Amino acid sequence: MVIAIDGPAGSGKGTVTELLAKDLNFTKIDTGAMYRAITWEVIQKKVSLENIEKIKEILCDSKIEFQKESVFLNQREITNEIRTKEVSNLVSQVSHIPEVRNAMVELQRKMGKNANVIMEGRDIGTNVFPNAEVKIYLDASPEERARRRYEQNLEKGISTTYEEVLENVKFRDYNDKTSNVGPLKIAEDAVIVDSTNLTIEEVVETIKKIVEKKVKKENAKC
Ligand code: DC
Repeated sequence: MVIAIDGPAGSGKGTVTELLAKDLNFTKIDTGAMYRAITWEVIQKKVSLENIEKIKEILCDSKIEFQKESVFLNQREITNEIRTKEVSNLVSQVSHIPEVRNAMVELQRKMGKNANVIMEGRDIGTNVFPNAEVKIYLDASPEERARRRYEQNLEKGISTTYEEVLENVKFRDYNDKTSNVGPLKIAEDAVIVDSTNLTIEEVVETIKKIVEKKVKKENAKC
C-alpha cells in the first residue's frame, strides 16, 4: 500500500509521516531528502548545474538509501549534511532539472513497488503514484506555517523576524505551485487535511482514520 502525503513547506509533513510510519509499521520515504542528497553530491563534486552530462553521471553513480531516520549516499551517512544552508539554497534548482526529476521519480516508484510505504513530497499523489491507495494533502495557513518555522528558528538560535519567515513561506509556496516540473497540486482524489488548528497528534489520528477506512473498504471488496 502506498500512502502519499503532499503539501507545502512547513505543513508538518515530515513529523506526521514519521509518526504515522512508526504507528502503521510502514517504510517512510522523504522524497525531499532524495533531492537534497543529489544536491549535496553536486556541491561535493563542484559540478555546475549547466553541466548535464556530469549531473547524469552523478545520478548513475549515486545510491540513495534510508535507514530509520538516516539518509545514506553510496553508504556514507549524510543525514545532517543535507540540511545545511548550502544544500537548502540549491536544492530547488537541482530538483527542477528534468534529468534529476525523472531519475528520482523512477527510484521513488521502485521503492514503493510491492511495499507498504508512506511517501512525503510535493508530487507524490499527482505524479509519482497517481494510483496511491491513500492520498493526503496536508495544508496549513501561511501564517501558521511561518509561526512554526519561526519558533523552530528561535529554538535553533537562528535569528530571523516573523515577517521575514512569512515572506519566505509565501515565496516558496509561489515557486512550488507555479513550478513547471512536479508542481505542488492537490490531486483530485486527495483528502485535504488542514493542520492550522490541529496538534500533530490530532493530524496523525485524522490520517490514521482515513487509512483504516480505506483498508476496510479494500477488504470489503474481497
Ligand atoms: O521538503 P524539502 O524542503 O526537504 O524539499 C527539498 C526540495 O525538493 C524543495 O525545493 C522541494 C523539492 N521537492 C520536489 O520538488 N519534489 C518532491 N517530491 C519533494 C521535494
